[in-house]
Amino acid sequence: MHPSESVKYGVISIQKIWKHGIAHTWGTWLYAQLEEHTTFDLRVMSSSSTLGLTMATRLQARRLDGIDHNPWVECTKMASEYDAVNLGQGFPDFPPPDFALQAFQLALSSDFMLNQYTKAFGYPPLTKILASFFGKLLGQEIDPLKNVLVTVGAYGALFTAFQALVDEGDEVIIIEPFFDCYEPMTLMAGGHPVFVTLKPSPTQDGELDSASNWQLDPTELASKFTSRTKALILNTPNNPVGKVFSKAELELVANLCQQHDVICITDEVYQWLVYDGYQHTSIASLPGMWERTLTIGSAGKSFSATGWKVGWVLGPDSLVKHLRTVHQNSIYHCPTQGQAAVAQSFQHEQLHYGQPSSYFVQFPQAMQRCRDHMIRSLQSVGLKPVIPQGSYFFIADISDFKKKMPDLPGDEDEPYDRRFVKWMIKNKGLAAIPASIFYSRPHQKHFDHYIRFCFVKDESTLQAMDEKLQKWKEELRP
Ligand SMILES: Cc1ncc(COP(=O)(O)O)c(C=O)c1O
Repeated sequence: MHPSESVKYGVISIQKIWKHGIAHTWGTWLYAQLEEHTTFDLRVMSSSSTLGLTMATRLQARRLDGIDHNPWVECTKMASEYDAVNLGQGFPDFPPPDFALQAFQLALSSDFMLNQYTKAFGYPPLTKILASFFGKLLGQEIDPLKNVLVTVGAYGALFTAFQALVDEGDEVIIIEPFFDCYEPMTLMAGGHPVFVTLKPSPTQDGELDSASNWQLDPTELASKFTSRTKALILNTPNNPVGKVFSKAELELVANLCQQHDVICITDEVYQWLVYDGYQHTSIASLPGMWERTLTIGSAGKSFSATGWKVGWVLGPDSLVKHLRTVHQNSIYHCPTQGQAAVAQSFQHEQLHYGQPSSYFVQFPQAMQRCRDHMIRSLQSVGLKPVIPQGSYFFIADISDFKKKMPDLPGDEDEPYDRRFVKWMIKNKGLAAIPASIFYSRPHQKHFDHYIRFCFVKDESTLQAMDEKLQKWKEELRP
């Protein structure tokens, strides 16, 4: 196409732009765009003194294609519109522990230099304590300067890792159901997500399912590794099922990563939240794995302070150095006071480690009680929770509802769980999250009979939930 021709959907021709005296370089750039995208739409509002330009199509970068719809927004909006008890979103509605709050207050009121930038890759007392705390757990000598990067929450760590390591055309293996940002983060980096599904094994009649029954098929997993596989993303304890991967399962993943020379990105933000005596194992602690693993953590999840948004990545310098490059060219510094508060909170935990006074011991005990309360209550209306081994979450089976009321309102191709959640918010005053959003598109329909609940909730929220469920139970009486 020559610049003198009209733009396909445009309002003016390039010749007119030339008449308005637009710089030649801009014209050359525009010409290049027109060559590539024939649907480039250009509207010019010209007045005697100003020339305003609105490009109506293709403002967004191509990397956003297909990832701009977010089903969370709709559920959250509806939950507040109907004033529903929100059991969907993953954050505590109770305060962080006193020692953590005091640490933040101290960070605000003590050294005024904590109001200023700190070291780009992490406030030194924080990188130091993270290195010593996790060094013991992972059985590694961790260098605070080379093996630790502090990020804006675990989200920041994940984004930095994908940007630093995943290239155009690289394949990333994602175990589904997965924390929903893994897929768009892979796509934004130019990678191809390759999904492998945790499959539930059948339960005895009347027995509740458990997250431990949701397993990877070793042959299927092995078949996903190709010469293009760059990374595998693991999440244990897992969101949304609450599965804690066993050592044997992690060994399977580790062996395949080593065999195919693949990086493992492991999201362990719920590592302290394990129940019923299950043990969390970090894959980086397995033989031969430290060198190829990035371990991601979150102070938000560790200290019930999700708004602090302090996260970290631990790993070998050979990997972390590339994350530092992304970090220094994007975020550069994370807020200093939050980091100081987290450093102090870890000091507290190091002193109390493994003792009844430790938050990492007390918190899971308290949350196991919340989990059991919610599981008991939801069963009273016919929801069938899958008992989680860890995390903030569990999913509940709604197949019986799907059989009894298959025609809930909604778009024709809308997975059932989304229609069910909207129905539940409107009619029962309870909000959850449809589990299909944690699956790749082709698999959503196969898992649209589950919804996700968050049980990390205050006693008053659980009571409010019980009141709603009591009403629902009465309506069920013949
Ligand atoms: C599995 C998982 N990873 C990472 C995050 C993000 O953590 P942060 O709040 O520290 O960014 C979440 C938050 O819900 C999560 O569930």
